[in-house]
Amino acid sequence: MKFAARLAAYQNNGMDALFAGNDPDLIAFAGGYPDPALFPQAELGAALAANTTATTLQYSTPAGAAALRQQLAVRMQRDGIPGTAEDVMLTQGAQQGIDLVARLLLDPGDGLVVEGPTYIGALSAFDSYQPHYYEVPMEADGMDLHALQRVLRKHQVKLIYTVPDFHNPTGAVMSLAKRKALVALANRYDCVILEDAPYRELRYSGVQLPPLRHFDTEGRVIFLSSFSKILAPSLRLGWVNADPALLAPLLALKGGADLETSSVVTHAVASYLQHSDLDAHIAHLRQVYAAKMARMRAALAPLLPAGATLTQPAGGFFLWLTVPGVDLTALVRDVLLPQAHVSIVPGATLSPMGHYRDSARLSFTGVTSAQIDAGCAALGRVLAQVGGAAQVQRL
Ligand SMILES: Cc1ncc(COP(=O)(O)O)c(C=O)c1O
Repeated sequence: MKFAARLAAYQNNGMDALFAGNDPDLIAFAGGYPDPALFPQAELGAALAANTTATTLQYSTPAGAAALRQQLAVRMQRDGIPGTAEDVMLTQGAQQGIDLVARLLLDPGDGLVVEGPTYIGALSAFDSYQPHYYEVPMEADGMDLHALQRVLRKHQVKLIYTVPDFHNPTGAVMSLAKRKALVALANRYDCVILEDAPYRELRYSGVQLPPLRHFDTEGRVIFLSSFSKILAPSLRLGWVNADPALLAPLLALKGGADLETSSVVTHAVASYLQHSDLDAHIAHLRQVYAAKMARMRAALAPLLPAGATLTQPAGGFFLWLTVPGVDLTALVRDVLLPQAHVSIVPGATLSPMGHYRDSARLSFTGVTSAQIDAGCAALGRVLAQVGGAAQVQRL
């Protein structure tokens, strides 16, 4: 059998390793999982039951339930994004939004800027459109815009993909100045920005900044978010806000991809938003996740070898570990997974160029406190041996 050329890129994207897991002893710091104990199970269950009707079980429209789009428009207005229900499209998670935007804009060989490192699932979606990647390094305050400008001066770029709030995987937040400057660069060089913001509401400290879409003067920013991290991932529910010139073809592509997002789910979430207090729920998530982050940092930081660094993000799901000179891809494969039974995401899988080999992403949200303590102790023991261990590859 001969597969399409787009499959070639899939062979090595690292998604399998990230989600593989039949090791019963595994402590998984790898996946970006919410804490299952925090799912509002009873309220969502009741909303799903109440909204399973003859109407919601029928086909609907690609844009999705108007009631939910209306509620999302109000939430986005509060966040600095003007617009109505007409400017919103519901998607099957943010992941589908990424895929549809790529489908809208990228022909094989087209220029695509991603942050280095970036979200592995975005690379997985982009790969099938065979773009030409330009990887722009992350800094503590977001994408390196000098590096971006060097790319834009020399090459044609159609799409810039960014996670400005609590970046996956580094946790960084793009500064206010960079938000404005990035939109200005997109205007100047005729690019579209995909602002992927599923962690946006999960801030644990500091002051919230306006989304990129707030600064959008030419309808070039597509704002994308999701209920996965703030309610539950299996709802498979995200949303896009974009200018009508972008939203109309996205709706057409959505129709071709899956016709629509489940009406039962979208009506259930609309009724959850109406009857429950999502903001109070998110405030609780913030408290619990901030404590988990502090716990993981406290457990791991004292065990790091000299020179290693661990970030302290102001929100989101992830810590970013760097152990200069050590090949963490090899360490994960050869020691951490098989011997210590701890999974983390090697940085090289989060870079289309395979950079960041001495870094890795750790998620603190989906694990229990006991798992955080045990997993960090095991990781610390492995890292302590890094200097002498024969099986550790140095870069
Ligand atoms: C940055 C980013 N975008 C998109 C997604 C996909 O989210 P969803 O479950 O809404 O498809 C994730 C999930 O981890 C993510 O981290």
